[in-house]
Amino acid sequence: MKFKVQDVPADLSGLKSECLIVPVYTDKAFSKAVKKLDKALKSSLGTVRDGGDFSAGLGEFLLLPIPRSSGNSQLQRVVLLGLGKSSSASLDTFRKAIDKLFAAIQSYKFKSAHLLLEETRNKKLATSSLLHEIGRAGELALYRYDTTLGKKPEAKAFAAVTVLCTKSAATNKALNDGAATGRGMNLARELGNLPGNICTPRYLAKQAQSLARQYEALKTKVLNDKQLEALGMGSLLSVARGSKEPARLISMEYRGGAKNADPVVLVGKGITFDTGGISLKPGAAMDEMKFDMCGAASVFGVIQALCLMKAKVNVVGLVAAAENMPGSQATKPGDVVTSMSGKTIEVLNTDAEGRLVLCDALSYAARYRPTAVIDIATLTGACVIALGHHASGLFSNNDALADQLLAAGEASGDRAWRLPIWDEYQEQLKSNFADLANIGGRPAGSITAACFLSQFAEDYNWAHIDIAGTAWHSGAKKGATGKPVPLLLNYLLR
Ligand code: BES
Ligand code: MN
Ligand code: ZN
Repeated sequence: MKFKVQDVPADLSGLKSECLIVPVYTDKAFSKAVKKLDKALKSSLGTVRDGGDFSAGLGEFLLLPIPRSSGNSQLQRVVLLGLGKSSSASLDTFRKAIDKLFAAIQSYKFKSAHLLLEETRNKKLATSSLLHEIGRAGELALYRYDTTLGKKPEAKAFAAVTVLCTKSAATNKALNDGAATGRGMNLARELGNLPGNICTPRYLAKQAQSLARQYEALKTKVLNDKQLEALGMGSLLSVARGSKEPARLISMEYRGGAKNADPVVLVGKGITFDTGGISLKPGAAMDEMKFDMCGAASVFGVIQALCLMKAKVNVVGLVAAAENMPGSQATKPGDVVTSMSGKTIEVLNTDAEGRLVLCDALSYAARYRPTAVIDIATLTGACVIALGHHASGLFSNNDALADQLLAAGEASGDRAWRLPIWDEYQEQLKSNFADLANIGGRPAGSITAACFLSQFAEDYNWAHIDIAGTAWHSGAKKGATGKPVPLLLNYLLR
């Protein structure tokens, strides 16, 4: 998508445009500029509004072709976009409206549109935030999965948005950063959507190397199974043992900030397919376990977005990648493995594999002297039971970090909700045969999973985001969402 900011012209009716999008609140009259346009259009806007054909409800929109005979040959269409009541307007409502419009506009034939941002006039809404959302929504609407379709759908026509508002370096940046966020989400969606027979640990490693070739500020390193063995990552390796696909630990170092500034480290769970291993999952909807690398995908998405934005921060992305299969060499329930930290783990359930790959990556993260480590994982079905699909689970050993992440989620419309990791829960991970067990029984399954991870993250500020309920949609809309890329970027760029 092409994005541009342009100053508002004095006379909108003279605007050369395939389509002018005019945001409207239910309880606010048109602005002077739109009134003037309406006059030039012989009151057609006012007529549909007053006649009740368009009531400006949230996300409602109406397309009005401008007949050539009206004498306005430059402007071909006007779209009125409902923003709902101005008193309940928020960035959230704007997001809903713009997402809906951009999704719908894709099926129209015209290729470009102007958006009269001035019309959103509202003290509660910062122009830069609105521009950010327009960029993100525009890119997001453009994405369609077609990589493994034999018959590719036609390329989309709609490909350019010009936002009419005061042009400046800041407004341009807000729009472009939003677009970069959208593109990062789309990369996360694409990696998530790719089937498990294509998107393997080695495929993810290639993806990282290809990103590093595209962006100068990025350095990639891929550790193979021999190197993981040498590092003592017995826990990560134990997950890959039942598969022909070897494990990989991928690091992507993005250095856009001060040379000696310590980085934030993001750690993504990259289980490219989770059968459960010997503790085999039931068959129903098992295909969705190709999405078990969506944590890793979000790390790729964030790194790409930072590169596109040329963000002035230092961030390391780590991806712990493996395929969880029940082969003859597979780890068995009761097996004891030794993690990089030296702690031994009794694998009571091979389906609790995410924590087994993450714990070694968390130990590895310490070498970057991180200011904070955030892991992102489709970790537990229990998190879906607790929070459903509207919030990711957040866990942290540091209140300030947790608060910043919660605020980043609110601000970006990609929310998280904090759950406790009190010592009382740690009791559930006790083992008679190892330093700890990899499961803590039925009660509070997401919390005991986080407690497990916390034992490998004691030396730094750490947070864990469980995205089991937010990373993908099931059913007719089956597909990856690109979450929590907006939350993470908002946190990193605050
Ligand atoms: N990848 C799954 C978690 C998952 C399941 C996410 C369903 C989204 C939907 C994870 O590896 C897993 O299998 N977790 C187990 C843990 C249990 C064995 C303690 C679970 O949630 O059932
Ligand atoms: Mn599992
Ligand atoms: Zn899993």
